[in-house]
Amino acid sequence: MLEERRILLIISGGIAAFKSLDLIRRLRERGAMVTPVMTKASAEFVTPLSVSAMAGEKVFQDLFDLTSEAEMGHIELSRSADLIVVAPASADLIAKMAGGHANDLASTLLLATDTPVLVAPAMNLRMWSHAATQRNVTYLKDDSINFVGPNEGDMACGEFGLGRMAEPLEIVTAIEEYFMAMGPANALAGRRVLVTSGPTHEPIDPVRYIANRSSGAQGSAIAKALIELGADVIFVTGPADVQPPIGVHLIEVETAIQMLEAVEKEMPCDAAIFAAAVADWRVVDTPSSKIKKVNGQLPVLEFAENPDILARISNRTKTRPDLVVGFAAETEDVIENATKKRARKGCDWIVANDVSPETGIMGGSENAVTLITSQGVQGWDRMSKSAVARQLAMKIANALGRA
Ligand code: C5P
Repeated sequence: MLEERRILLIISGGIAAFKSLDLIRRLRERGAMVTPVMTKASAEFVTPLSVSAMAGEKVFQDLFDLTSEAEMGHIELSRSADLIVVAPASADLIAKMAGGHANDLASTLLLATDTPVLVAPAMNLRMWSHAATQRNVTYLKDDSINFVGPNEGDMACGEFGLGRMAEPLEIVTAIEEYFMAMGPANALAGRRVLVTSGPTHEPIDPVRYIANRSSGAQGSAIAKALIELGADVIFVTGPADVQPPIGVHLIEVETAIQMLEAVEKEMPCDAAIFAAAVADWRVVDTPSSKIKKVNGQLPVLEFAENPDILARISNRTKTRPDLVVGFAAETEDVIENATKKRARKGCDWIVANDVSPETGIMGGSENAVTLITSQGVQGWDRMSKSAVARQLAMKIANALGRA
């Protein structure tokens, strides 16, 4: 289960830091690769030399360590792992995570990453039960951060109670469970999956365009989750706010017509996921120079309907992908409308969501989706967009028969 998995282990200050040596040993025994990061305080409890010797890798300690910045930027370091484990997690580091601080290497990595995080708290029982810590833990859980422990037991300070770090083997089990839920890393190995994402920009003239508010967050998260399952991902994106994930075959387009051309050129593929918010209309006869403002005269724009990329690909007779997934952003009668959309477009699945302003989903980090397939309707709990993406990627792997 842990074979070839890369784990970024952040060790923060606390007497439990000595247990991280055993944790590293047990992870490596199971085939995982461990990149250690130590906070300044943790080096008071366990030496970087022993951590490095145990991990068989360099220990990263300093945000301003220029050599390592040259070797690997902190952003890249934070994203190079399959999972980030914080063990032990001190009350201070948990507070920094909850507050979004980034004043040392550990907190910066945790803020810069979209890699899943598992936290193993370790602290005095009063620090753990303090309202501030509990509040921070709630924030982190709401942000889909996973926790293991703390346990009840004797504390280094002589007290007894809740706050002891989970034992290394318990942390290993939590890590294994996480990867088990994620599915095998190679579930989509050798599969070509195309993802469209982001908005399109439809020009009015050389300087003006019609756009929409899609950030590209859900599409990017899906592409990342597919990559994590080993797929070759072709990522056709309009001008999105969110960066495309590392490792995709990136095709950047502006208009719906360009998106269609790019998608058709990339056929055949095993699955195609249409997460883009494609403009329904484009302006016809866009002039080659800027439309001048003439007193008292309003320009008249004539529109033409854009091609429906999802419907085109769903209805291909030759080289139709085995699985075509569309999205339906609705504001009312979500399931009814999305079910009709699935039939109308001819796709296999529709991922439907309610984007009414009160849901906070559009532009937010969470999503509550309903998956509509030929088997029926499945409502998913509200969760982060990356968790939706991971769950969807697993379903895709299952459907393509490799999970
Ligand atoms: O019809 P509607 O825009 O609500 O359908 C949404 C789904 O159709 C999304 O999956 C979207 O990516 C796709 N779509 C498309 N091409 C269009 C319009 C929508 O691929 N021109």
